[in-house]
This record gives sequence, structure tokens and C-alpha cells, in this order.
Amino acid sequence: MADGSAGFAFTPAVETATAGVWDKVRGHVTPLEWRLQAPLIAEINRLKREKNAVVLAHNYMTPDIFHGVGDFVGDSLGLAREAARSDAAVIVQAGVHFMAETSKVLCPDKRVLIPDLRAGCSLAASITADDVRLIKQRYPGLPVVTYVNTTAAVKAETDVCCTSANAVQVVEEVARQWGVERVILLPDEFLARNVARQTPIRIISWHGRCEVHERFTAADIAELREAWPDAEILAHPECPTEVLEAVDFAGSTAAMSDYVTKRKPRRVVMITECSMADNVACDAPETEFVRPCNLCPHMKRISLENIYEALLHDRYEVTIDPAVAVRARAAVQRMIDLPPPAVPARYDLVRARHHVDVELI
Ligand code: 13P
Ligand code: SF4
Repeated sequence: MADGSAGFAFTPAVETATAGVWDKVRGHVTPLEWRLQAPLIAEINRLKREKNAVVLAHNYMTPDIFHGVGDFVGDSLGLAREAARSDAAVIVQAGVHFMAETSKVLCPDKRVLIPDLRAGCSLAASITADDVRLIKQRYPGLPVVTYVNTTAAVKAETDVCCTSANAVQVVEEVARQWGVERVILLPDEFLARNVARQTPIRIISWHGRCEVHERFTAADIAELREAWPDAEILAHPECPTEVLEAVDFAGSTAAMSDYVTKRKPRRVVMITECSMADNVACDAPETEFVRPCNLCPHMKRISLENIYEALLHDRYEVTIDPAVAVRARAAVQRMIDLPPPAVPARYDLVRARHHVDVELI
């Protein structure tokens, strides 16, 4: 184990302090793993109190992080909103870099730390601020909606942000406000195609893809249906359209989690990153999880060890040029200020009748 975390022992005090977490994760963590994880969990929780820090843990974190040290857990937007509401001085982002940037954009006065600077995202890496400036020159007068999975510099060039949970609503509202029939939606090609199926607004998009979700296919879903005919199949909107059209429900990570904890299906499949099902399973003991999944290598760079080191050494601090941060904040804020969706956000199979495809730049 790197740095100063090697010496922690599984003492009776650690066992007592972490008993609640163990009760939750015991079905998903072996006792041997727990003897290594519990001392770190106890020490991270102690350091958080000492430093007035909170850990924001995305749904794709492993259960030891998600259930053990996450003060706020959820999808990328939910985490940023919680960050803004918290009065902690320090935020440790247990997620990827664009999420830490969004937290910094919404909380300029807090110190935001990311435990590993290499925790990137294929979508955020697919487009630069220069690309967006060129796109705006090519399509003057059209609003630019940008997915939150982008850098702060890209958000700063954007009229309004969206998440996978509200993309249709944001596109329709922005088209109404601007009085246009075409909207630029960047950078996820598949999210754009999935939005285009659900709205008469014409979508112009980019060739960004999530390296985790682009790998799922309709054939995968057909195989699952054959093997598990009674399973309810859920998928993230970053998947190809052929996947979304074959599943029972599609929504953000938070929407999928809600679906399982509220509806309590007997058997479920989550077409997304692997840790998602592990985390939801800890809260849904009555549901059986079938687990075809893909790992996100960026999310998996975050560990208990480097969260501990981040807190101990105040590293790695995420900073954003204040001029960029102000413009990025305006784009995120415009999204937050939009009226809440009339129906729970999901890929709406009834609305998905628009067979007009996106125009890819
Ligand atoms: P959510 O906003 O749904 O949490 O998605 C973030 C992400 O990175 C999905 O791949
Ligand atoms: Fe990015 Fe995909 Fe990983 Fe999410 S799962 S952080 S979109 S690469």
C-alpha cells in the first residue's frame, strides 16, 4: 500500500466504527478484503472531520468508497449540487476530473481535490473549447447545449449544460427560448441520437463516445432476454440507440438506481459500469442482479488509498481560470434554473418515434 496508509490495523475500535458499513457491503466484500478496507475507511472518516471535508462519491465508485466514505452519493449533477449546498471547506471528488471541475465551478471558494489526476473521461476528452468556437462559427444563431461530461473550458463556450437525465427537456426549452428548430448538442453522439429520437427538434452533434457504453449492442440485450426472460433491463443513455430501444428503461445513473430501489424488481440487469450494480445491490437485497457490465478505467483509478492520501496531503487540487469558471458556471446555472421535468427523466419509448437522425459535425 502506498504512502502512510500501510500501518492501519483492524482493531476492535475500527470494527465498531465501521460496523454499519460492513452490514451494508458484506454481501459484496469478502471478510479478508474488509480487514484491509475497514481501517482505511475509519481513518478517512476521521480525517474528513478533522479537515472539514466531504467526499462526493459517484455511482460508479466501488462499494467500499460509495458506502464507506461517500458523504454524498449519486449522479454527476446531483453530486455537484450537493457540493454547492455543503458548508465543508474541502471537497474530495471520488469520480472523474470533469466532475471535480463541475464541483469547483459551483463552489469557487472551496478546495476541490481529485485523488488521481489521470481520472479522465473519453467524452470529456473528445472535444476542446477551440472545437466549440469553430462549431459556433459554422452554425451562427444556433444554441449550444453541452453534456456535463465536458471540461470547464468547453462548458464556458456553451449556452446551457444538460445531463443524461434532462437532455430532452433542455434541448426543447432552449429551442423554445431561442425560437429555433435546430440545436447543437455536444459531444456525445449516442446521447444526441437518443435525444433526437424523442423530439421534433433537429440535433447537430459531435463524434464523442463513452468508451464504456458504446460497447453494448442489441445482440447483447437479445442474449440476455433469452437467458433471463423475467429480468428487467435498464441502460444508460450513453448506449447506442439500438440498445435503448431493446431495454425496459433508460436513464441516468441516479434514475436507474431509483428504479431498482423503488420498484424492487425480482431480477434486474444494468447495462452500464460494473460498480453501479454492486452499489445498488447493497441497498436492494430482494433483487437479483444479472451482471453483464463494462469497467470504466478512469473511475477505477480512484481508491480508498488515494482518497486517504488526497486528504492527508491536500492533493490534487483542481483549479480553474476564474474567467473560464464564471462562464462555465453560467451554463450550469441555466440548466439548474430550468423548470423540473414534468415526467421522470428516462428514454421515452412512446416519444421515441422521430426517426430523423442527428447531423454529425
Ligand atoms: P450520470 O450523470 O448519469 O451519473 O453519468 C455520468 C457518467 O459518467 C456516465 O458514464
Ligand atoms: Fe466517461 Fe464513460 Fe467513464 Fe462515464 S463511464 S466517466 S462517460 S468514460
